[in-house]
Order: sequence, then structure tokens, then C-alpha cells
Amino acid sequence: MPRQKPLPLEFPGVHYMDEDEIAAAVRVLRAKSPFRYYGVDLQREVESFEEEFARFTGCRFALAVGSGTGALATALSALGVGPGQEVILPAYLWVSVAAAVVNQGAIPVLADIDDTFCLDPASVESRITPRTSGIILIHMSGAPGDVESIQAIARKRGLFLLEDCSQCAGGSVHGKKVGGFGDIGIFSFQMNKNMTAGEGGCLVTNDLRLYRRSEACHDLGYPRDDAGRLVFDEPEFCLWGKGCRMDELRAAILRVQLRKLPHITSAMRRSKYRIRQALQRFPGVQLRRIADPLGDTGAFLITTYRDRETASAVNRRLRSEGIVTLPQGINNIVMTEWGLHLYYNNASLVRHSSVDSAGFPWNLKENAGAVQNYSKGACPVADGLFERSILLAVPSCLSPADEDDIIAAFETALRACQ
Ligand SMILES: Cc1ncc(COP(=O)(O)O)c(C=O)c1O
Repeated sequence: MPRQKPLPLEFPGVHYMDEDEIAAAVRVLRAKSPFRYYGVDLQREVESFEEEFARFTGCRFALAVGSGTGALATALSALGVGPGQEVILPAYLWVSVAAAVVNQGAIPVLADIDDTFCLDPASVESRITPRTSGIILIHMSGAPGDVESIQAIARKRGLFLLEDCSQCAGGSVHGKKVGGFGDIGIFSFQMNKNMTAGEGGCLVTNDLRLYRRSEACHDLGYPRDDAGRLVFDEPEFCLWGKGCRMDELRAAILRVQLRKLPHITSAMRRSKYRIRQALQRFPGVQLRRIADPLGDTGAFLITTYRDRETASAVNRRLRSEGIVTLPQGINNIVMTEWGLHLYYNNASLVRHSSVDSAGFPWNLKENAGAVQNYSKGACPVADGLFERSILLAVPSCLSPADEDDIIAAFETALRACQ
């Protein structure tokens, strides 16, 4: 008998919102002080959130920003990325990562992924050229990538490492939180993420100079003094701003969500590993390789099949067994339906769309010879994995009965499709 009720929506942090977040938002509104740098009765929510997030990730500095996209733009500005540079990024990504590189005037270079669904270290090595300035490792779909190997490559080759932890807040590798392996780590707190205020982001680093550059770049291009006034007499930090400050309202909410994050991720991880364990009995299913299962946030389950036909048949059967969510969510899809997470679906990248009317940055003489082909086929391992894999979001509020339904549906689908 197929499941009748749709699965809960996938938004992990939202399911845990309650009176605590409401009280936090009201506190800011009652103080009539929604701006971070000064106010009528400033509550210093952003500052407190930054201290708490730095402690949580084990990093010296945290800078709260308006979005993950803003965090990427700020980080690349702080790192001094520009024309003539190539930045390596994975074939399984999000559009904001490629956009941040292109907006800086640099050239994105795709590296293939492996069965971690994150950067393949060997592919990264093969893409390094004399123009390469850095690597962006994205911890995709809730689980960390092989960050220790990528960190070793970056150090050996003198490249920066930027970790995009937007989809993996709270994740860790061998006891160390993601975000602290790179020169800079960035996070998004948009609604699909492990913790959320609807929008928001954060950047973490252990490097004082990068922190101070980021602080200037995320705001109006200049640092601020203790009273929140802009400072113009430090030439090293006299830069250009991205206009992506965090506000007090969202920071107050994020402080509450950060306290709940370990519960949110352990709930998803528990559900995911119960399902994974049940699937191990089926030889036709390959489970995503997870660098360190204890550090997996559990937000997504990825299963891979011998060919695209089997993957689609299993997916169709799971859906007919009721493994679907409400119309406003996306769940249980073959990965080829995963939109801008697939490099070749990023039309602006494939078409070399320019930022200005003259062709920037593809037309720059500094970038001559560096421009890449981003069409399907550029990363064959990723292409194959996308076609042969199914992505299931693991909601943070699954009951044991929901998990039973998912396991039973997989058993039915796998028996029918093997
Ligand atoms: C890997 C990754 N990077 C960056 C972002 C951008 O974050 P935001 O939507 O907060 O700008 C996202 C959000 O979807 C993401 O998944």
C-alpha cells in the first residue's frame, strides 16, 4: 500500500522554529535597533552571533553577511581574485560559485567530482596551470568533501582554498568543523539550509588580514571604528564594497538557530543512516562515499545505480510508492533534474555570458587562452553520476514511521527494478 501523506518539506532549520526565534526577533524590534553598527538601543546581535559562530566553527574570526552569494563575492575580493587568474571549482556546484568568479573578472575552471560528489583531488591536480590562484571546494548536499586532500594540494601548490559550506553547516571531518580547513570558509543561511533566517550568510577565517579585508569588502569598502563610523586612513583596507551587511533581526534569529543546529543535524543524520543501513542489503545500490560519517549533516541521501534506466525506474517506482513531498518542495529526483547544481545547466556559464556590454571577463587579454568549455561532456564522471543517481532530501523532522515508509518503498522499488 503506497504512502498517502507527502513527506515533510525539506527545509531543515524551519521545522525547529518556535517561540525562541519569535522572542529573538521581538527583542530587536522592541529596541528599535535593526542596524548592526549603531541604533537607539543596540542589542549587538550580529556581533554576538559572530562570536558564537566563530567559536562553533573553531575559527578565530567570523563575519556575518547578507547571503551566501554575498559571502562568496566578499571572500574572492578579500583574496584579491581578478583578471588573469583561474579558480578551480567542482562540476557539482551552485550557480553563485561560478558567478562570484566571473564577476571578479577571473575564469572558472571545472574539475570533476568522484563518488563523494565533491571535488576529486586527482582531477583538481590535473586542472592546475600557472594561472591558477585558488580552489573552491563545495561541501555538497549536506556532507563534507575530501577537504584534507584538497587542503594538502592547495598548500603544496601555493593556492588559496575557499570552502563553500553553504549546504553543510555543522559538518565536520575527523572532529574538525568545515570552514576552518580553508583560508576562508563561507556559509549560507537561506531557507533550504541546515540553519536559517530566510536569508543570510557568514564568512570564517583564521587570518586577521583576510578578515579585515572581508570586513571592508562586505560593507562599503572601509573598516569601521567601535562607534560604527567608517575609517578612511588605513590604506591597506581602503577597498570596494559589496553591500551585503547582516542586520540585527536576522542575526538574533540565527543565534537561536545556531543553538539548535546540533539537534537539527543529528536528527537528519540519524534518519539518513538508518535508511542507508537498510539499503546496504541491496547489491544494486551504491551509496555515496562519505569522508567521515560522524561529520555528515545528513541533509541528503544520494544513491547510485548501474545505469540511467535503472535510476529512473527506481525513482519512478519510489514516487508511485508515495515518496514525494508537497508541491512547494523538491524531493526524490534523478539528479539530472537538479537544475543549477549541474555545471552544464548554468546557461550563462555555458554561453560565456558577459558582465558588461564588451564581453568581460571572457574578452580580457589577461584571460586569453584560459576560457573553458563548460558544456555537458566537460566533466564525464559527474555527467555519469548525475544520470545514474537519485537525490532524496532527508527532512529534519522525519518520524520512525516516515523512515519505515521510505525503507519499504526502496525495498519495493529495488525488487521491481533489479
Ligand atoms: C553551495 C552554495 N553556495 C552558495 C549559495 C548561495 O547562498 P545564498 O542563496 O544565501 O546567496 C548556495 C545557496 O543555495 C549554495 O548551495
